Amino acid sequence: MSDETLSNLLHENRTFEPPATLAKNANAQPDMYEDAKKDRLGFWDKQADRLTWDTRWTQTLDWSKAPFAKWFVGGKLNVAYNCVDRHVENGLGSRVAFHFEGEPGDTQTITYAQLQDRVKKAANALISLNVGKGDRVAIYMPMIPEAVVAMLACARVGAIHSVVFGGFSAEALRSRIDDAQAKLVITADGQNRRGSAMPLKPAVDEAVAQTPSVEKVLVVKRTGGEVSWGDKDVWWHELVDGQSTSHKPEAFDAEQPLFILYTSGTTGQPKGILHTSGGYLTQAAFTHFNVFDLKPENDIYWCTADIGWVTGHSYIVYGPLANGATQVIYEGTPDTPHKGRFWEIIEKYGVTIFYTAPTAIRTFMKWGKEFPDKHNLKTLRVLGSVGEPINPEAWMWYREVIGGNNCPIVDTWWQTETGAIMISPLPGVTACKPGSAMRPLPGIGAEIFDEEANAVGNGHGGYLVLTEPWPAMLRGIWGDEERFRETYWSRFAGKYFAGDGAKWDEDGAIWLLGRVDDVMNISGHRISTTEVESALVSHPAIAEAAVVGASDETTGQGIVAFVILRSGSEDGEGLVKQLRDHVAKEIGPIAKPRQIMVVPELPKTRSGKIMRRLLRDVAENRSMGDATTLADPTVMNLISQGLASGKSED
Ligand code: PRX
Repeated sequence: MSDETLSNLLHENRTFEPPATLAKNANAQPDMYEDAKKDRLGFWDKQADRLTWDTRWTQTLDWSKAPFAKWFVGGKLNVAYNCVDRHVENGLGSRVAFHFEGEPGDTQTITYAQLQDRVKKAANALISLNVGKGDRVAIYMPMIPEAVVAMLACARVGAIHSVVFGGFSAEALRSRIDDAQAKLVITADGQNRRGSAMPLKPAVDEAVAQTPSVEKVLVVKRTGGEVSWGDKDVWWHELVDGQSTSHKPEAFDAEQPLFILYTSGTTGQPKGILHTSGGYLTQAAFTHFNVFDLKPENDIYWCTADIGWVTGHSYIVYGPLANGATQVIYEGTPDTPHKGRFWEIIEKYGVTIFYTAPTAIRTFMKWGKEFPDKHNLKTLRVLGSVGEPINPEAWMWYREVIGGNNCPIVDTWWQTETGAIMISPLPGVTACKPGSAMRPLPGIGAEIFDEEANAVGNGHGGYLVLTEPWPAMLRGIWGDEERFRETYWSRFAGKYFAGDGAKWDEDGAIWLLGRVDDVMNISGHRISTTEVESALVSHPAIAEAAVVGASDETTGQGIVAFVILRSGSEDGEGLVKQLRDHVAKEIGPIAKPRQIMVVPELPKTRSGKIMRRLLRDVAENRSMGDATTLADPTVMNLISQGLASGKSED
């Protein structure tokens, strides 16, 4: 984040009180902070009581084996039962769980009773494939109801799902299947994106050819395109549709693993973040109910995330369903068939709570207010933001143009690792400042430390840490205990290091300042510089690569790569395009560099470390900072000259 933005943030003194009626009727009232402060564990006990337990826990938290936490020790529950069956048993079977809107305009309305039948059938199908407790299932699917059903079916039988975003490449899928040793892959023939059918199955075929752990591939027919078919492939409609709708959910231990979700770290190898059942579901449900002020009987809730990311897990699947919410899910992109598609959907279903990402908001701003203005958005009452810092301009636009100056905006800070929202306003309590996530939720401990682990205090910035274990916290990195300790728990002894910079303003509100490590945030998605560098150097023309995240008006950060060619390789026409396509093939289109510059040298310190700071200056067209620690001080001149003589491309 630039110094200029930082100092703007320091002077942000607009605040917006919650609307009076919303405040009066809000699920969360001011005393919630006091309650949690008086008795933190007692507070979480109360929240766990939102769920239906088969066996009650005997101990709230066991932190004796820190950093491995156990929450609700001895408790047993079935997560899928909590998300579906219990609502039907409570007489809510005819309540709509999902209004599904396909990109081509096809729709489905799925009640809780129908969802229950679908999940039971899918659970029976998993059992018929010999998938059960502790087995890993990779899910590589578009945003269609079967994706949610597949996740819940895994939860129901105690299998651990690993959802891989449908935009990731065959190689990214392969490495994730391999790391988790998944036994089953659930996918679709294709997905509808920007008006055309994009195949998914070929990437699965490629991945599965190299992953012997996979026994079967279950395929939903979504687009109806040609697919090649092998011994392991089974059509979803042939296997699942004919299954029985009777299935008794088994109660599992509160610490039964629920899912693995891979996220980028500072190395080339993504981390499999492990989440378990009782604590995760407790905090997902608690935060969804209170941060969005959900009134399950009236609200229509829409989170635009993809289930391939943690937001889709916690705020489409587990939190909202545990609370019996009615939701919209949309398969496609916001500009198909026109740039008003989101606003049309809000009007059509009468959406009351809308949760999206700053990058989307900035894109809508760029398109112009004439698109939302064509639709009635008056049903909206709470707006949410997630994934990256939201700049005050985008916040104000969201408030005025989408929220009609009448909706609180909850800027929710959290991570794949935290499992659920940690820092956020409460919509009926907090007076919000545009761009601030405000304060830790009740029951959550957060601090901002300097290098020496001193709390910095109001008016100062430093590193964001979480000071107390929380129910939805990650329970480790799949298969890598050492990396778990090292990444999160070694920087400040015994405290969770989030990897984000943050500051307290003079009034004690928290401002998130972006990552402090080599992780970029592109459109709210985490990609490590090393991952992109490894992809680049795996191309035969590239000898060395350095990647930085440069500020980008729409996507937050954009990927800028500096590459050195191997001798004999030509910096000819088309090389940059080839490299960008290569990165898309290795990781996925979201990791395509915005810009690739061919340079003769990279700036390195005497110990050989690339000085990204200097490259970031170049990428952001700034005059260069202090270069005195460079091994070869002339390198930056060479780079600048090369760029000036037209050696940069794209
Ligand atoms: O840098 C923070 C940023 O996104 C990172 C977590 O990314 P991921 O695990 O992919 O989860 C994204 C969805 C929860 C954080 O370390 N981040 C997330 N939300 C915010 C944010 N930065 C600022 N403000 C937020 N509200």
